Amino acid sequence: MHNEHDLPLPWGAFRAANRFRRAVRQFNSTPIPEDEIRDLLEEATLAPSSGNLQPYELHWVREPALKASIAQACNGQKAATSAADLIVVVASPEIAKQTAKAQLAYVEASTKLGVDAKAYYRKQMGMFQRILGLGSSAFWSPLVFLAGLIRPSLSLLPIGHIGSRHWAARNAVFAAHTLILGAAAKGIYSCPMEGFSAPKVAKLLGLPRGSVIPLVIALGYRADDARIEERWRRPLTDIVVRH
Ligand SMILES: Cc1cc2nc3c(=O)[nH]c(=O)nc-3n(C[C@H](O)[C@H](O)[C@H](O)COP(=O)(O)O)c2cc1C
Repeated sequence: MHNEHDLPLPWGAFRAANRFRRAVRQFNSTPIPEDEIRDLLEEATLAPSSGNLQPYELHWVREPALKASIAQACNGQKAATSAADLIVVVASPEIAKQTAKAQLAYVEASTKLGVDAKAYYRKQMGMFQRILGLGSSAFWSPLVFLAGLIRPSLSLLPIGHIGSRHWAARNAVFAAHTLILGAAAKGIYSCPMEGFSAPKVAKLLGLPRGSVIPLVIALGYRADDARIEERWRRPLTDIVVRH
């Protein structure tokens, strides 16, 4: 099987990386070469996102003092304190608004996109700009709250000040997991963490108001005595519902 760039798609390599990946909570002191992290960050940016709005930033924390402070804000978890690098995943509707502008400018300036493609992008970005503009106002939040009570499946509506931040966060997670799987493909272990004080991490990074942090990722090489339990998952028959 080949993709559009005529590169082989090695299932075995993907499977090996996916199975290498475990949540590791104790890393040794070996530093990760900077180029390796750059590679991972670059691949992460290729993750899909709604409307290609990429509503996130990846904060690469390598500087020892800041890394130590953030590790403390991650409740002092061993995974964080022993990590070679931390990646703080930051999301916000505001970033999506800026992306929409940048994407529109790219579309208008493009000499490669045809008239139809340009019209499609203008329409799509217009729709997203309306949702992100008016739609992310707190005014809508009580309505979304009510809608979710009456029709629980509407709980994920991407509108209102909370809904739009949830939307940004769940988009960011695709990039986060791409980075995590990429790390595994390079023999680098990781631990995704949601056990942290978001206000403390936001303050340490000087994040603008309205930013949320869906995840902090610890990266490093596994310590010899790191515990990894046998992997357990629900049976496939419970997870997959075939229609
Ligand atoms: C969103 C998310 C948050 C997590 N938060 C933490 C955490 O704060 N601390 C931790 O030690 N592990 C954390 N984990 C790791 C999970 O415990 C781990 O992925 C799960 O037990 C399955 O094990 P495996 O990743 O080795 O397959 C988190 C995982 C995810 C996806």
